[in-house]
Amino acid sequence: MIRKLALSALTALSLAASPALAAGELGEITDYSFSFEGPFGSYDRAQIQRGLQVYTEACAACHGLQYVPFRTLTQESGPALSPDAMRAYAATFEVQDPVTGDWRPAGGPDHFPGSGMETAPDLSLMAKARIGFSGPYGLGINQLLYGIGGPEYIASFLAGFDGREEMQAGTMFYYNTAYDGWVSMAPVLWEDGVEYADGTPATIEQQAQDVAAFLMWAAEPKLAERKKWGFIGSLFLVLLASLLYLTNKRLWAPVKKQAKQG
Ligand code: HEC
Repeated sequence: MIRKLALSALTALSLAASPALAAGELGEITDYSFSFEGPFGSYDRAQIQRGLQVYTEACAACHGLQYVPFRTLTQESGPALSPDAMRAYAATFEVQDPVTGDWRPAGGPDHFPGSGMETAPDLSLMAKARIGFSGPYGLGINQLLYGIGGPEYIASFLAGFDGREEMQAGTMFYYNTAYDGWVSMAPVLWEDGVEYADGTPATIEQQAQDVAAFLMWAAEPKLAERKKWGFIGSLFLVLLASLLYLTNKRLWAPVKKQAKQG
């Protein structure tokens, strides 16, 4: 019975998962392996810091991160900037004071600005909004079954410009193999386009993965904590299930014995 249930649950899962793939919603997504994958994965601090740099230098001009407060950049399991470094970084952005309405340099409690370019989506939740997470019913099923999710998509998207350009109705469009179609965002990453302080060679794919990892952190800063509690929760459930099983057996033992004898 349990096997049957498990089987049908699996079939239901894969049925639910496949249309998103089959319908050609995905272009070519590379299955990059990120440090935060798997039940015990966590963010690679150096990578998140490099990703922050790529975001700042190559994306922030157009894309906002309006749900991310600057002070979270000090988070130990994330970029882990020192409080001073975080404040200095925040001060490079201008925000409108919610009380006075004046423009001033941002501080720790402020959020990153929203998108400066109207047609560029805010990136705060992009790593969770794209396939895998949005997947069927937003359950992260593609990520679970195929190991492919928002960060893989974002990295593939950034590295997925094949050079084709086309003017359509006065707007320039660029072909993207991950999006599997034309987008109005031009390629923004170049070989050595940023200079990493830690000496990592700044290939396009490296920058793409780093900024994707940073955006995953932005969308899911509590990933490690969630995984930990998920693990403790599962242990607890296993324990509870075995206790219930034993109790059940114990409870019905006399009745079974009677039935056997009778
Ligand atoms: C010059 C402005 C500009 C810059 C710089 C820029 N983008 Fe974009 N981006 C756009 C626009 C405009 C769109 C909407 C494209 C469309 O829907 O046709 C977009 C779309 C996206 C999307 C959504 C794709 C989808 O599936 O709909 C992602 C992800 C993205 N950008 C990430 C980034 C990242 C990461 C960077 C920095 C490495 C970056 N962008 C730099 C303008 C920009």
